[in-house]
Amino acid sequence: MSKKLFIETLGCAMNSRDSEHMIAQLTEKEGYEAISDFREADLILINTCSVREKPVSKLFSELGIFNKKKKPGAKIGVCGCTASHLGEEIIKRAPYVNFVLGARNVSKITEVLHKDKAVEIDINYDESEFAFDDFRTSPYKAFINISIGCDKACTYCIVPKTRGDEISIPDALIIREAERAVDSGAKEIFLLGQNVNNYGRRFSGEHEKVNFSELLRRLSKIEGLERLRFTSPHPFHMDDEFIEEFASNPKICKSMHMPLQSGSTKVLKDMKRGYSKEWFLNRVEKLRAECPQVSISTDIIVAFPGESDEDFEDSLDVMRQVRFNQIFSFKYSARPETEAEHFTNTVDEEVASDRLTALQSLNTEIVDEINATSLGKTYRVYFEELIKDYFVSGRSDNNIVIKVKGSDELLGEFRDVKITSIGRTILTGEVVA
Ligand code: 5AD
Ligand code: SF4
Repeated sequence: MSKKLFIETLGCAMNSRDSEHMIAQLTEKEGYEAISDFREADLILINTCSVREKPVSKLFSELGIFNKKKKPGAKIGVCGCTASHLGEEIIKRAPYVNFVLGARNVSKITEVLHKDKAVEIDINYDESEFAFDDFRTSPYKAFINISIGCDKACTYCIVPKTRGDEISIPDALIIREAERAVDSGAKEIFLLGQNVNNYGRRFSGEHEKVNFSELLRRLSKIEGLERLRFTSPHPFHMDDEFIEEFASNPKICKSMHMPLQSGSTKVLKDMKRGYSKEWFLNRVEKLRAECPQVSISTDIIVAFPGESDEDFEDSLDVMRQVRFNQIFSFKYSARPETEAEHFTNTVDEEVASDRLTALQSLNTEIVDEINATSLGKTYRVYFEELIKDYFVSGRSDNNIVIKVKGSDELLGEFRDVKITSIGRTILTGEVVA
């Protein structure tokens, strides 16, 4: 009988892909089978995020529950960004944890598994050319890493400390992985990296000069590949070549994530983001001029230290001007080992909450208005998921989530769908062709 593996994944898409990589190694090399109930597992992994404080405190309460209710003899491993950053301390605080594996050491999962109390968190470890076994949560879409680490120094962000320096993965490896995924039925490839449009700055070994636009051109030649998505580009690296490739390449989906973080040039400077409000708006203008149908999403932090009412107003102003299709918004959370942790001009908690509420209600207003314009329109949808009450859901090219009545026959298929009713996060329609 195979051993059972339960894995819980917090955080971003990079973390989800790391979990897939660990499942691949454990199923292929160690004979595990992934299951969804931790009480039956022989190995429990929690793949953590440390970008804000909340998920970190949640970790220890969850570990306590796992330990209490797990099968006798089951092992517990803590992986991911919080593992990188807390290391040994995790075993000190939760001595029943069997091993700790950092976000940049994922390929060592099969080693730490056999070393009790192992702490493997080397931030300089280079696994950019490691050949992981194959595992994908979805047969219809493949997530592929194009780089590891992050070279930026945003003053609020812990990621460079948990994932280390940025190294691009050789394009031949990316293309081979994409071809394999397409051969096994995936029609959509989702490229992942902390700053995807910084691709090609540094490789582990000798490599010809290839930037992100060139990588996109090469990948889009793969026959049978229909859609190419990526996250996240950095506004600072959105040069004209990148925007023009994005707009003119028919395989690239027309949805762009542009993490604004703040609309105030002063705050952006304090965050060390490398661009101004004007630059961001100029890039949006260029993008919309080249690609009018593009949908744009963003991340915004409110109440960064020193953010005045006027600075916050700048964030709202950018929202009104750009009219983002989707916003991920966060209250600033001081993180250890970051520059901003030492900033003393912090914003009152109450002001922070009010700003978050104001920003989110403006966003709701804008998104409702945008969604209303979709009624009666027809979108090409790629169906990926069965959802309850006999609905199947998928995404339009510009990333609108759409559901129709239907069965698994639609999964992995493209259809034209006419929108018949509007919800806030999902639109409903009927297949017309
Ligand atoms: N506090 C609040 N939000 C943060 N993010 C990153 N670091 C912090 C922090 N210290 C947000 C950013 C980033 C997203 C993944 O999380 O908006 O784009
Ligand atoms: Fe992803 Fe950042 Fe969270 Fe790490 S800290 S899981 S890179 S969001």
